[in-house]
Amino acid sequence: MSANPAASATSESAEPARNLLVARDVHKSFGQTEVLKGIDLTVTEGEVVALIGASGSGKTTFLRCINLLEEFEQGSITVDGDPVGYTDRGGSRRRLSEGRLAAQRARIGMVFQSFNLFPHMTAAQNVMLGLVKVKGMAKAEARSLADHWLARVGLADRADHHPYQLSGGQQQRVAIARAVAMDPRLILFDEVTSALDPELVSEVLGVMKDLAKSGMTMLVVSHEMLFVRDVATHVVFLDSGRIVEEGEPHAVFKNPKSDRLRAFLGRFTDIIGDITAR
Ligand SMILES: Nc1ncnc2c1ncn2[C@@H]1O[C@H](COP(=O)(O)OP(=O)(O)OP(=O)(O)O)[C@@H](O)[C@H]1O
Ligand SMILES: [Mg+2]
Repeated sequence: MSANPAASATSESAEPARNLLVARDVHKSFGQTEVLKGIDLTVTEGEVVALIGASGSGKTTFLRCINLLEEFEQGSITVDGDPVGYTDRGGSRRRLSEGRLAAQRARIGMVFQSFNLFPHMTAAQNVMLGLVKVKGMAKAEARSLADHWLARVGLADRADHHPYQLSGGQQQRVAIARAVAMDPRLILFDEVTSALDPELVSEVLGVMKDLAKSGMTMLVVSHEMLFVRDVATHVVFLDSGRIVEEGEPHAVFKNPKSDRLRAFLGRFTDIIGDITAR
């Protein structure tokens, strides 16, 4: 894992952490329905930002806009200073060519709820695919990188297994290894544990925690509130396409200001107790 000096975010670090993701006033509609109503969000290098909110609040849509899987009508998103998706010349906004979009996408990792592994390929081949096809890496080098990352997610002995021979948690860890192996600037996680049996959730959260510790910049949609509270550096609550509240997780959970957030957090009390009181 590439050591990231910003990761330790020590107060003595000479330079302030770079802004890796900057979203400004992002608006997105599906037909007549506006689902993102002006999202402003900055993620600095090494930060782990959690995006929480009710079903339909726009979390996935926002991630898909960042990863150029969705077009948005207004606003801007930059990753590492580079405007993603569009050029803006003299006020006229143009979607980039597919080639440029593909190059931009390669710098942003994404891990989904459904692991999206290729079933006919082994774990190692799944990890190697982007390295060879997108990065043009030689197969032997890609294999050694795949082995490295599979070992990092605890799957050294599963590299030559096909997805059907792996548990859901193992498949999701392969998907994470595949994303990280591409050496992205930023990784987006969209409810990556919600399709897993409860006993497999913690192994995937453990891998994500390890990544966070290593300094990977992460934007994580999750309903795992204890993970959010303990691992995220910043939490953002999205409600009906707007950021309603955000801040340091312990503070936000302990003292939710809006009724909407209080009601949202209340839904988790059955599982984790009263998180606002912790
Ligand atoms: N392709 C689409 N076409 C039309 N409407 C869509 C499309 N994708 C999402 N929507 C709508 O946009 C809104 C936001 O959806 P989104 O998937 O971003 O929510 P979410 O916060 O990720 O929810 P969940 O927690 O259920 O995953 C919803 O009302 C949804 O129905
Ligand atoms: Mg979603």
